[in-house]
Amino acid sequence: MPHTTAETPVTARLVALARRSHEVIATHQAPSGAYPASPTFSAYRGYAWYRDGAFTAEGMSRYGDVTSAGAFHDWAASILMARADAVRGLVDRQSRGDEPGNEEMLPTRFTLDGADGNDPWWDFQTDGYGTWLWSVVTHAERHGLDLARWAGGLAVATDYLVAFWDRPCYDWWEEHVAHRHGSTFGANFAGLTAIARSGALDEGRAEAAAAAAAAIRATMLAECVAGGDEPPTASLPHLTKWAGSSAVDGSLAACVVPYGITAPGSPLATGTLDAIRTDLATPGVHRFAADVFYGGGQWLLLTCLLGWNEAATGDVASARARLEWVAAHATPEGDLPEQVPDHLLHPASRAEWIERWGPVATPLLWSHGMYLILADELGLLPPVENR
Ligand code: BGC
Repeated sequence: MPHTTAETPVTARLVALARRSHEVIATHQAPSGAYPASPTFSAYRGYAWYRDGAFTAEGMSRYGDVTSAGAFHDWAASILMARADAVRGLVDRQSRGDEPGNEEMLPTRFTLDGADGNDPWWDFQTDGYGTWLWSVVTHAERHGLDLARWAGGLAVATDYLVAFWDRPCYDWWEEHVAHRHGSTFGANFAGLTAIARSGALDEGRAEAAAAAAAAIRATMLAECVAGGDEPPTASLPHLTKWAGSSAVDGSLAACVVPYGITAPGSPLATGTLDAIRTDLATPGVHRFAADVFYGGGQWLLLTCLLGWNEAATGDVASARARLEWVAAHATPEGDLPEQVPDHLLHPASRAEWIERWGPVATPLLWSHGMYLILADELGLLPPVENR
């Protein structure tokens, strides 16, 4: 069947950037299966994150690169299996009331060959493990694969999250370790929900995962919702950056799609997307109002995430406008950066980061992975026979 979307030059360019995104990710994927966050960026070089990689794998899975996504999941599962005893020890201590320190918990990123690495980092973050569970189950379902291949890692990630989902930790942006964050709850809810119904766990673990997922959602709805005022200041409720805060964060869109805390089109989903659009989208999406990292620019991956949510409610025009905005910020080689400085929230803070870590991370594989997801939502991947 002819591919009907490659009609206009703009559409052809969007499709070409999808092909290029696949190429960037595939080229940089390590032999171990790890997706380096950004191969040349000083602070990320040599490391791969579960969070970035899980979304990147989802993009590759949608593109039809079953081998690449599978290799990433092999890498992720093998790291967890190698730490099965350590995780069992952490969970046992927790159950005896002997709370492990943050520095004893699993890190958020690993070297490409699966070691912990020696560079200090804001390491204790649980969301990557939740997003990974969601990503690997989604990949297996899409391509009819047997999750048994990753069973050891799936069990370890499940035990870890069932024990520790409610602990304060660093957020998606590796900040605010004292808080319990909306998007961290969302990620762990999605991961535990997906794995509980996947059939890959023994019965006891599956039940524990489902119970923890229900508790996460209830906690989030009780503690991470603001707004929803009665008239005359009527407003829809929205999810919040952390429990007890009223601020939004661009990452919260993920709590609707793909994490599923609330369904697209629900008052809470609509209120959350509206708040992100009002407070953070220009039209590229900022992380949060107080963001000073590289002056607080607009993140391409968050713009794709908002577009993905807009596509899920049938707002194809807005979703496509987000994809076009992202594509307009590709380098001449077709590389997508982490953020762009069209509109800076805190311009005075930009120079210090350039001095410290060099120019913004480019390419960022997570940006390319999110581009693939939104392009797929809009039917803008190249035809299968031409990938
Ligand atoms: C971001 C994280 C990301 C990491 C690697 C950090 O600057 O805040 O969300 O996982 O970079 O891309």
